[in-house]
Amino acid sequence: KKRSLSGIKPTGFPHLGNYLGMIRPAIDLQDEYEAYYFAADYHALTTARDPKAMRASVYELTSYFLAFGLDPEKSAFFRQSDIPEVCELTWLLSCVTHMGLLERAHAYKAADAEGRGKEISHGLFSYPVLMAADILIYDSDIVPVGQDQIQHLEMTRDMAQKFNAAFNVDALKLPVAKVQENVATVPGTDGRKMSKSYGNLIEPLLPPKKLRKQCMAIATDSTPLEDPKDPDTCNVFTLYKLFATPSELEDMRQNYLGGGYGYGHAKQALFEKLDAYFSPYREEYQRLRADEAYLEEVLQSGAERVRPAVEEVMDRVRRATGIGRR
Ligand code: TYM
Repeated sequence: KKRSLSGIKPTGFPHLGNYLGMIRPAIDLQDEYEAYYFAADYHALTTARDPKAMRASVYELTSYFLAFGLDPEKSAFFRQSDIPEVCELTWLLSCVTHMGLLERAHAYKAADAEGRGKEISHGLFSYPVLMAADILIYDSDIVPVGQDQIQHLEMTRDMAQKFNAAFNVDALKLPVAKVQENVATVPGTDGRKMSKSYGNLIEPLLPPKKLRKQCMAIATDSTPLEDPKDPDTCNVFTLYKLFATPSELEDMRQNYLGGGYGYGHAKQALFEKLDAYFSPYREEYQRLRADEAYLEEVLQSGAERVRPAVEEVMDRVRRATGIGRR
């Protein structure tokens, strides 16, 4: 079987963008592929400073993946830092990676554009190298991600090629990104990409009251209640589209066009749709989250499952470079 790999940062509750862009597609691949998914705690450390929250967040993510259907009997969900060799591979890749490549990374460029380039941590600057190591260390074939990770995947391929060329070997396999078109960039409540750093989240496993509040916060224009509205430029409609059946969607479209239908009505319909869809998962999540001993077992068996691939790749790159004894 080919291998599917992806990671997600343990920095608070996952949101609708994470769910649609990565979690759902990744879990759907677990029959066809050997699935390796992980909580990227090393990556989270570029910003996180609270050890308790870090540990809790890894357990939250583990509960999420299990609740959404990851089967720990056939797929791995593990903690990035339980495979410390990724840090070793990060160094080996660093030695063949030009500063120029890393300076082109969106996250670094954005910081540099604000004049803070010299103040960002070295960890953030070399974030793409750690991410390349994450992917390459498992001989990954495909990497299910949202649109915002495409550049990182291109850089990963670049680094793998540089490494192979530098040592004249075929040690690292080139992975491909797998992005699902209709959910490549899920919009947040303000219409921009849904992102923790914009505070525009919808977190579907929150208690219904809070979820409703997030739905009600979606930005809309000021068309009066009685007037017809354009569904195709409306955030509420765009999000509803991702969950509604074709006939439900057509009904809402007609409501928009007909007038007398307010954005409040549409938001309520969206909330009800999300709540109905997610409430079974929410219950399952809460049940799983309460048992940390079990979650830790899942993480450890996940790490064990991926370990043989790690040994293989690390053996190849150590041989190629002459690092370590034979
Ligand atoms: P992270 O934790 O920011 O996001 C996890 C996944 O969610 C996707 N995503 C979205 N998709 C669609 N619409 C959105 N609004 C949206 N917001 C987030 C992201 O594209 C991502 O797939 N660097 C990675 C974590 C990582 C990783 C890896 C991924 C570390 N190592 C190796 C793949 C392979 C990140 O910060 O994801």
